Amino acid sequence: MNSRVPVICVDGPSGSGKGTVCRLLMQALGWHLLDSGALYRLVAVAAARQGVALDDEPALARLAAGLDVEFEATPEGAEKILLQRQDVTREVRQESTGEAASRVAALPPVREALLMRQREFQRPPGLVADGRDMGTVIFPDAPLKIFLTASADERARRRHKQLKEMGFDASLARLAEEIRARDERDAGRAVSPLVPAEDAVRVDTTGIPIEGVMAQIRELVQARGLD
Ligand code: DC
Repeated sequence: MNSRVPVICVDGPSGSGKGTVCRLLMQALGWHLLDSGALYRLVAVAAARQGVALDDEPALARLAAGLDVEFEATPEGAEKILLQRQDVTREVRQESTGEAASRVAALPPVREALLMRQREFQRPPGLVADGRDMGTVIFPDAPLKIFLTASADERARRRHKQLKEMGFDASLARLAEEIRARDERDAGRAVSPLVPAEDAVRVDTTGIPIEGVMAQIRELVQARGLD
């Protein structure tokens, strides 16, 4: 780990706004982005493609260790995720993949297999890291750790809007239920549970438009001399 390259950690539950905040921050600072949730999602996609069961720990750990993945952007700036050179962006973003990712993410050998891969994203001039354990486990020395939250209802509404925009059919009531179940699993697991780091700054985004959230975060970035 190159500890001289600054990292801004943004952790929090599903739908708290991490993805949007991290992309805006990455663009504003011109830094790299680690979307760690996408790595767990990719393990789930690879498992489905290769017929690996979601409780087969050794096989899932092997898949995680050998993930052949590339993150690209389309000329329009939209994200593009390649697994073994195949475009799997839509599959990665499906709600069922998020659910499967939350299951594989509870397995210690899978987390272990992805640890170094995540730290390799720490390259100059800096890294914005989006996840659940960025500040607690992956980059414990990061100069700025943000823990984003929002009420469960608001998070379900945001996820619903996001999925609709991507052309997926989603029921709001079912999403709210899935988000509650996912929160419970992510926060209750034995390894790297979703908890704020002791030195994290909590930002509650309930009812706050993205411009307001970004203004708060930019102040924190400035106060740490990271801009
Ligand atoms: O942020 P996301 O919805 O793409 O994440 C998908 C799942 O992966 C989430 O339910 C929990 C898991 N995850 C994790 O355990 N640790 C991370 N650093 C990121 C995601």
